[in-house]
Amino acid sequence: MERTRWYKDMVFYQIWPRSFKDGDGDGMGDLWGVLEKLDYIQSLGCDGIWFSPIYPSPGADCGYDIADYMDIDPQFGGMEAFRQVLKGCHDRGMKLIMDLVVNHTSDEHDWFQKSRRRIDPYTDYYIWRPGTPDGPLPNNWDSNFEGKAWTWDEVRGEWYLHLFAVKQPDLNMDNQLVREEVKKILRFWLDMGVDGFREDVITYISKKDGLPNDHIFPIYKGMRHYNHGPRIHQYLAEFKRDVFDHYDCFTLAEAPLVWPKQALKYIDETSGQIDMMIQFQCQCADCLFTDYLPTRFSLRRMKKAFSDWQNKLAGRAWNMLYIENHDHPRIISRYGSEKYWVESGKTLAVSYLFQQGTPFLYQGQEIGMQNWRPEDPEMYEDVQTRYNYAHSNLKKSPQERLEKMWRSSRDSARTPVQWDDTENAGFTTGKPWFYVNPNYKEINVAAQEADPDSLLNFYRKAIALRKELEVVRHGTYREHFRRSKTQYVYSRELPTQRLLVICSFSDRPQKMKVPKGFDLTTAQRILSTHENDTSILHPYESRVYLW
Ligand code: GLC
Repeated sequence: MERTRWYKDMVFYQIWPRSFKDGDGDGMGDLWGVLEKLDYIQSLGCDGIWFSPIYPSPGADCGYDIADYMDIDPQFGGMEAFRQVLKGCHDRGMKLIMDLVVNHTSDEHDWFQKSRRRIDPYTDYYIWRPGTPDGPLPNNWDSNFEGKAWTWDEVRGEWYLHLFAVKQPDLNMDNQLVREEVKKILRFWLDMGVDGFREDVITYISKKDGLPNDHIFPIYKGMRHYNHGPRIHQYLAEFKRDVFDHYDCFTLAEAPLVWPKQALKYIDETSGQIDMMIQFQCQCADCLFTDYLPTRFSLRRMKKAFSDWQNKLAGRAWNMLYIENHDHPRIISRYGSEKYWVESGKTLAVSYLFQQGTPFLYQGQEIGMQNWRPEDPEMYEDVQTRYNYAHSNLKKSPQERLEKMWRSSRDSARTPVQWDDTENAGFTTGKPWFYVNPNYKEINVAAQEADPDSLLNFYRKAIALRKELEVVRHGTYREHFRRSKTQYVYSRELPTQRLLVICSFSDRPQKMKVPKGFDLTTAQRILSTHENDTSILHPYESRVYLW
């Protein structure tokens, strides 16, 4: 079937279901809540939804530990609610993509339960190694979440590999039967009408033969033996050939540690196996590879990441554009300013929405939700946060350790969406499963609906412009004043249309930088954060000009 690449014209909205909207009053976000809010999502100009996992799961990693791939968790409303949401999307001309998590399953998945008992054909569905419970581990790899990557299983009497939490055993993708299972899952959802998949840590699925030890030093020991592993392209090509090529669908691969040149091996439009990639460089302007190694925010690093991907993918592949998702603290609290949250929120929106690619918004980003800061580490839910808190910075004071978590934890961005200023921010009529950010009285959807200058309405304007202007979709990208530490300036160009974006990331007034050859007197200012005609930019001011 012909792939029409419809995703190039879209803007996606990511739903992290637990915290989006509770429809049945049990305190947990669900698909009934999503159904209520489909019009809201559409009103933003978003025409696609990516669901973080909604399958049955014990919730050890908030759904990224799946116990059944072909069902919907009853706590989210089950299959009945899902069918209504899918229909609701399609009736509105919107698309829906699911999260495909097949690097690992939950240890409560039936496959694992059978594998640990050596029941065929499941015996080799996972990565098992012999040994003794107190003997050496099969290798020195670290898990991404909880200490070492191996756990002893009493039932089978062997070690199993888990690159994430203990309750997330890695599948053995080298086993053809496992790959056939993946294809079955894909067809199941595509046949139901789902429009594609976001593929969770998919670059980890092929491990190096023999699972060799890594050097002593690196963080995430072992990563170079499983990220972009030996058969990764072969397996992805197999999924494409046997499944995706038979549907007009869309695939988005999450790839921790990938650079544009390597990404092209996956997403080059003529030779790749998938459509787009979630890269992490855009999240590393204030940390070293991971949020747990924070540094000062550097605008130059952010600009370099944006520009690298824009330049190197141009004409060959399509960018996935994002500044937030469920795995990182909130962007205003990191790259922007909580003091100037409206202005910096708008400028962050402008900084990425006018680039080439398909933008994604994460729930709450459009109203400027900010980091949640619990006063007690026990309030954290996330498995990665809890492990890190317990095992790092042990020499620091409890308060310092807690403050570090505020900056690093994924839970900083997982609090319920703030719909209005009523109790629990209008998220639920019951007792919320998680804490609501106390700033909800000030920051919420209802207040911003009523204010034409709100961040929410600014997102709507920016998205509408992006959809209207050919140059945003297809113009060439050029960055100006690369060395500026306070302004991000880029242009987009077609023979018939030209766009200039100027963003100040400073909390002080700045003289606006205008590149040579751009005569502002003949331009139309189509979007701006401030009413300001002078050449001095206010803190976090941004402007978009069109010729
Ligand atoms: C991805 C997901 C993250 C999850 C992890 C393990 O990085 O985005 O939320 O915890 O994979 O599945």
